[in-house]
Amino acid sequence: MSTPKRFGNIIGGEVVDATETTLNINPSNTDDVVGEFAQASLTDLNAAIAAARSAAPGWAATTLGVRHDILRRAADEVLRRKDELGALLSREEGKTLSEGIGEVTRAGQVLGFFAGECLRTGGELMPSVRAGVSVEVTREPLGVVGVITPWNFPVAIPAWKIAPALAYGNAVVFKPAELVPASAWELVDILQRAGLPTGTLNLVMGSGAVLGQALIEHTDVDAITFTGSVPVGRGIAAACVTGPTMKKMQLEMGGKNPLVILDDADLDTAVECAVNGAYFSTGQRCTASSRLIVTEGIHDRFVEMLCDRLEKLTVDDALKSGTDIGPAVSAEQLKKNLAYIDIGLDEGATLRRGGKRLTREHNGHYLEPALFVDGNNNMRIAREEIFGPVAVVLRARDYDDALAIANDTEFGLSAGICTTSLKYATDFRNHIRSGVAMVNLATAGLDFHVPFGGTRASSYGPREQGRYAVEFYTTVKTSYIAAG
Ligand code: UN1
Repeated sequence: MSTPKRFGNIIGGEVVDATETTLNINPSNTDDVVGEFAQASLTDLNAAIAAARSAAPGWAATTLGVRHDILRRAADEVLRRKDELGALLSREEGKTLSEGIGEVTRAGQVLGFFAGECLRTGGELMPSVRAGVSVEVTREPLGVVGVITPWNFPVAIPAWKIAPALAYGNAVVFKPAELVPASAWELVDILQRAGLPTGTLNLVMGSGAVLGQALIEHTDVDAITFTGSVPVGRGIAAACVTGPTMKKMQLEMGGKNPLVILDDADLDTAVECAVNGAYFSTGQRCTASSRLIVTEGIHDRFVEMLCDRLEKLTVDDALKSGTDIGPAVSAEQLKKNLAYIDIGLDEGATLRRGGKRLTREHNGHYLEPALFVDGNNNMRIAREEIFGPVAVVLRARDYDDALAIANDTEFGLSAGICTTSLKYATDFRNHIRSGVAMVNLATAGLDFHVPFGGTRASSYGPREQGRYAVEFYTTVKTSYIAAG
């Protein structure tokens, strides 16, 4: 095995090596080392925050033209290198090559979107209720934003947090998930070379428990944007509120997203939505449809067709052509998926297909896509986010029953319905308690230019993405002006 390339943290415009490193392992082939990545110490983190703090005023004062050009240049490079970066992403995360390239493309589009969006930030001029006074409402950057991202979208989620942070004039300290530092490193490198002033964007790699926690608690960080699990999100919320500076926060967490399939659905559409939503990206999406809620009249035909379709899917090396589903991201995630299969069986659900570990040419974390039937919504497999290629079919009497089951969850991120009835589709969009509603589409797979987020335990704080991102990354100032 050749010596893996070593990557340092990026602090104050410099690549900074560390005494501690971790190996980034390919989940499709655990003999393949993607690279060796420096682990930031708390001293490194403090240096990164100090660099961001001192860069923040200069960056906030940069003209919009400069900000636009930097983001545009970064967008262009990401898009130009989408095949190479997509392969890197698939190699470190395990989603298929086409999913990897698709994600990199999305990241490039997000950067391009916010290049344009920073030019559109405006304010409001309002009359006062007092004579001789006018009121001006303007938006200002927050200062230093801490960005903490998960492993399942190694480049798109960092892009949709970092791009608006920078577009609206903030400096950033970015801590990517430990499992996927390579895509994060490339993204930061691209933004640096696109012309960001020193210290505006800093990359610190390491554990969430140590580094993430210290970032959240640091008094020189003004806001935290986080995507990850509910327990970690709750901890961040508590720390942000109880800390001396009371940080602004944006939390995107889990889902247990329902896909409702009604008797009148087009069966092919329903099966495609289920396969895509529940199993693509190895089910490792917070928008995955892990609960398939199917009404009586179509239930058996749907299950039959879904199983036939799953039979035809190829689970293999993410980089191999013809692969439909890659491996789980890590041994730990695979173990969790397998544990949930046992839990489902113990709870009395029927494992209709899949659920076994698979061996392939190389040693990787492969799992046969699993489908439970005869489940009920009180089972743990229907209530807890698994984050793997595991779904459960829940039988519903009729539309009203299906909607009630869909809403009976602590989460509220994405939800879908397959129906040819305008009446039910409209009622569903009105009454589903989720931030995203999909009609005859998979619950996962978002556009890059519109808001994203959920309700209840799925999200906290202002929405991400699209022009709604401005709400989180800026603060509003109301000025009252009278002639002196
Ligand atoms: C998508 O479904 O296209 O972590 C994106 C996640 C979500 C993003 C989903 N925050 O899975």
